[in-house]
Amino acid sequence: MRKDVWIFGYGSLLWKVDFPYIDKKRAYVLGWSRRFYQGSTDHRGIPESPGRVVTLIHSQNHRCWGLAYRLPEETLECTLSALDYRERGGYQRLEVELFLDSGKKVSGITYFADTTNANFLGGADPAEIASQILSSRGPSGDNLEYLLSLEKALKTLGIRDPHIQDIADAARTMRTHQTSSATTLPKTSHLTS
Ligand code: SIN
Repeated sequence: MRKDVWIFGYGSLLWKVDFPYIDKKRAYVLGWSRRFYQGSTDHRGIPESPGRVVTLIHSQNHRCWGLAYRLPEETLECTLSALDYRERGGYQRLEVELFLDSGKKVSGITYFADTTNANFLGGADPAEIASQILSSRGPSGDNLEYLLSLEKALKTLGIRDPHIQDIADAARTMRTHQTSSATTLPKTSHLTS
């Protein structure tokens, strides 16, 4: 008998699900944290101006909550090759143990960008990350949309992630300031010209 294949998503795979699945459960991986440490040059940024997306970082005793999708056998190979292509900007498949919120433990696959990949950016404070996100866009759209979609997906699933929340809050504050200075700018330039 064939073993079930589960895919674990913790980033865009929470809200952009373009593959068939049989079952979906909240799940976590143990010993990992979700972090905006991966550069994106193909989806939410460009090579000259990379955006930021999430990856998993080793973090003892921490749990990263997300969603586990059970894949149907008939479309398995096709789904995995489409995901390999989608996640080609530095991510690789990683076999992980998944703790489903039903209490069951299963083995699964996740896409993980390690610290040695060419696009890895590493840590920075929330304001710095938010500012990079606000100024980045790529073929898949604005980097801010990725951040806010992630925040919304986590909220809908009842998952609290202070790292994501701090960055989303910082981005909102900066955007408000940018909007208010943009609206006052014409007056100022008029006065000085
Ligand atoms: C994931 O969602 O699980 C991988 C990272 C991403 O595509 O945002």
